[in-house]
Amino acid sequence: MTVAPDAPILFFDSGVGGLSILAPARAALPTAPVIYAADSAGFPYGTKSEAEIAARVPALLGRLVERYRPRLAVIACNTASTIALPHVRAALDIPVVGTVPAIKTAATLSKSRVFGVLGTDATVRQPYVDRLAAEHGADCTVLRHGSAALVQLAEAKLRGEPLDPHIARDALAGLIDQPGGDKLDVVVLACTHFPLVQAELAAAAPHPINFVDGGEGIAHRIVHLTQGQPWPDAPAPGIAVFTRVDKGVEALRPALASYGLNRIDSL
Ligand code: DGL
Repeated sequence: MTVAPDAPILFFDSGVGGLSILAPARAALPTAPVIYAADSAGFPYGTKSEAEIAARVPALLGRLVERYRPRLAVIACNTASTIALPHVRAALDIPVVGTVPAIKTAATLSKSRVFGVLGTDATVRQPYVDRLAAEHGADCTVLRHGSAALVQLAEAKLRGEPLDPHIARDALAGLIDQPGGDKLDVVVLACTHFPLVQAELAAAAPHPINFVDGGEGIAHRIVHLTQGQPWPDAPAPGIAVFTRVDKGVEALRPALASYGLNRIDSL
């Protein structure tokens, strides 16, 4: 298949979390045209059922692909990826990259053999996470905790709002207060919103913790899948598209611009 130089890469999340995936991808491919899609009308995903996510995400991606004709789609959301990736792949005729918890990396890095998976409620209960933990962390204690408040904290931070310091502390306590949790030395940021509040998490940690996420790995995967394809000579302004544009979205404009997203569309 021939790919036009201006064919974009599509990033998809429920909200702003996928910006933590967009940023390393943009650093690796600076002239790649990008569409950043956020399902603001369906946000948040982490408190929804598997059935709702499995129905909603492939349908939305289908509409986005029809409108923007991307060369590649990235589901920049752990919740949507761990639940709906096979459904999305079946529905689209372009390559689809998913975001799954960086459990393998955590198992490699943990010295204490106790690490945590911090995600949404929906992600941490997925059999996919059980499989990754069994495959890569069989000799480790893998603690899990879901935090919807931390997702909201990341959204608030990007809207420029004042942040409640208890939220990061409580999210970490959800892991550390479990049996064995005092030895935890690595935390997988298994929700794409969480790298956006990594500084707040690090400041709230009672002892030094190594935080890992999938952003760099996904950037490498995108580079690999688009190898040999043409790109524009200069960076083009990116487009952010929301399923509902409201005051909250308007407040995101400066943060979106800092990620190179200068135009807002509604789907
Ligand atoms: N950013 C998403 C994730 O990676 C979901 C956040 C939400 O909508 O609850 O899981």
